[in-house]
Parts: sequence; structure tokens; C-alpha cells
Amino acid sequence: MTETTAEPDIVTGVDIEKLMGGRPIERIVYSSKEIAEQVARIGEEITREYEGEADLLILGLLKGSFIFLSDLVRRISRPLQVDFLVASSYGSGTSSSGNVQLLYDPAAPIAGRNVIIVEDIVDSGNTLSRMIEALEGRGPKSLEICALLHKHIAPRLAKEPRWVGFDAPADFLVGYGLDHAEDFRHLPFVASLSE
Ligand code: IMP
Ligand code: MG
Repeated sequence: MTETTAEPDIVTGVDIEKLMGGRPIERIVYSSKEIAEQVARIGEEITREYEGEADLLILGLLKGSFIFLSDLVRRISRPLQVDFLVASSYGSGTSSSGNVQLLYDPAAPIAGRNVIIVEDIVDSGNTLSRMIEALEGRGPKSLEICALLHKHIAPRLAKEPRWVGFDAPADFLVGYGLDHAEDFRHLPFVASLSE
């Protein structure tokens, strides 16, 4: 296991050692620059995909998607609306409990609308499957998933994400919205955490 060197992040100029409070990270898996490139690409693809459509609702799965979502919507060049879903499946551990709870339901109507669920990461797929089930029942015109990271370890997904930023390693990842016990969400990059 390697300790982090205090190299500044090239986009934000952040001092990583200061940022982490001395907590070692294994490695930076995706830099701010690489993330920004994928966010721009996905934003362009979504813009093209919904050309001529009257309506687009972006539903962010909190809390993990908050940074990805806020960067992504600014890369989508068309009218849209934003709302959120809150699900909870993880305690303070690093593996999925499989017990997904829907803690907040979007206030926005779903029926007849083009909806994109924005996820930070698809791991076991439990969260996603549960959300798809809940939203499909409300009769959207279309329902797609956009995930920053996809581990490709889910045994069965109710629906494959239409847009994925990165095919991620099976490590436990933090930063750019992803947490470990609520820490590290604010990192401008994605890192794997040392044990
Ligand atoms: P799933 O239900 O197992 O697919 O996991 C869904 C949620 O668990 C994600 O939206 C994340 O909030 C969290 N999660 C899964 N894998 C990781 C990880 O590697 N780091 C941080 N959070 C994760
Ligand atoms: Mg989480």
C-alpha cells in the first residue's frame, strides 16, 4: 500500500495531504481532469439524445450524486428540471447491506416525462433496481440511468445504465461525491481508500 504524496491536483491545485487530513489514500483512480472530460462527453450525448423532446427531468440519487449531477447539468444544453431521490443502503461499512430504503421521494411528477436517474456508482445494483422499480410504476415516457462509475459486478440489474463515465475497479472508492462513513465526499477526484 502506498501513501499519498502531496502532489497538487492539476485542475484544482489542491494539496492532497491537507485535503485528506493525513489519511492515506491508495491512489487517485480518476483525476479531476479525466472526470471533467467524461462529464462533458456525457452532457453532449444527453443533449443530442433528447433533441426535439419537450421535457427532461434529471433525478439525482443523493447523497453520492450531488457533485456529478451539478457538474453534469451544466453540460446539458437544453431545458431541463432537477429533482432528487434519497435512498440508503450502506451504513458506515464498505459493502452493500442489500436493504435499500427510499427516504425521500421526488416531488416532481414522473408520468409521461423523460427521466434520467443520476447515480454516483453502480456496485451491487440493489439501489438502482429498487429505484427503477419505484419509478417505472409511475409511467415515465422514458427512463434512463446515468452513472459516473460502474463496477460491473452486479449479478442482475433491472436496467443497464445508458451512460457511464468510467468502468471502475472493484475497490472501495471515495471522492467526487462518494463517501466512506460520510467522509471524503468533497475530494475533487476519485481515489481508492487504503485499509
Ligand atoms: P449498490 O446498491 O450496491 O449498487 O450501491 C449503491 C450505493 O452504494 C452507491 O450509490 C454509493 O452511494 C454506495 N457505494 C457503492 N460502492 C461504493 C464505493 O466504492 N464507494 C463509496 N460508495 C459506494
Ligand atoms: Mg454512500
